[in-house]
Amino acid sequence: MRVLSGIQPSGRLHLGNYFGAMRPQIEMQTEHECFYFIANYHALTSLTDAEMVVEYTRQVAMGYLALGLDPAKAVFFRQTDVPEVTELSWILSCVTPLGLLQRAHSYKDKVAQGLSPNHGLFAYPVLMAADILIYKPQLVPVGQDQKQHVEITQDLQGKFNQTYGEIFVRPEALIRDEVAVVPGIDGRKMSKSYDNAIELFAPEKVVRKRIMSIVTDSTPVEEPKDVNNNAMALLRLIASKEETAEWEERHRRGGMGYGEVKKRLFELFMEKLGPARKRYQELEAHPEEVERILAEGGRRAREVAAQTMREVRKAVGLVTVRDM
Ligand code: ADP
Ligand code: TRP
Repeated sequence: MRVLSGIQPSGRLHLGNYFGAMRPQIEMQTEHECFYFIANYHALTSLTDAEMVVEYTRQVAMGYLALGLDPAKAVFFRQTDVPEVTELSWILSCVTPLGLLQRAHSYKDKVAQGLSPNHGLFAYPVLMAADILIYKPQLVPVGQDQKQHVEITQDLQGKFNQTYGEIFVRPEALIRDEVAVVPGIDGRKMSKSYDNAIELFAPEKVVRKRIMSIVTDSTPVEEPKDVNNNAMALLRLIASKEETAEWEERHRRGGMGYGEVKKRLFELFMEKLGPARKRYQELEAHPEEVERILAEGGRRAREVAAQTMREVRKAVGLVTVRDM
């Protein structure tokens, strides 16, 4: 099956990105034809510092490669290396009802937070629909927070096909329930915007400090404890089933402090992510290699997108010199 997903280069990668998006995406590369890209056009809706856009794009690229994305298996690229998506975004916007965008949660949330929205933020789901539809994927693995955007894509796919003929394929969101929302150190959804994230590639000292400051209650050491605390929620994601069961038992028994769970969580973090952290450092020393991989991925992705666009232009009646 063809699989597609994207991630915005709008901040440092954290455990929420890893469990919610990156790991499941990378796991799919062996069995499926995967297209993964860095959504740098989308990042402009929130980032206006050009250097930061470049820097976060580089970090996301190194992060995926360090965590095991294999460019020989998956097509890995930058969104901007396929400028056709902006053209498709315009064409799709002409079949997009305003109401559909006005109902988008992520847009409404940002407005509710007091952000004065730009048109890019409002039109964000249309560009995302173009990103998806242009490659005709069947599956779009994303975090829970992106589910509605995939539904909007399905709506636009239906509207476009109804109007112009069967060009696009209906994509389905793929959401892993067990890691639907990774909590941050304060128990809210882990997010770079809440300052509650545990970063994947931060220096060891910073990671330790972050993990040790996970918010827990003040039940005295000797008493039994609630297994649904923030440290256990993260440990469950990273430890084996057996080990998780042991920790749960120790919670029930009492005589254990939350500090012990956090210490173990830190050890497991280093154990599981250590090899990727090392590869990340190696990639940092070879930016030309990262660039080469992205450029090659961009060429492969663009071939597919260019073919779809020839069909789209013909269907809607746009003649361009490119298609002659
Ligand atoms: P942030 O919330 O830090 O801004 P993004 O929105 O850039 O993160 O998320 C990038 C990807 O990682 C998305 O697919 C999103 O669903 C996933 N993701 C981010 N945070 C979490 C989380 N706490 N739990 C599960 N998935 C997450
Ligand atoms: N909106 C997604 C996010 O914030 C990123 C994204 C852009 C995306 N285009 C996409 C995800 C297409 C999946 C498919 O995480």
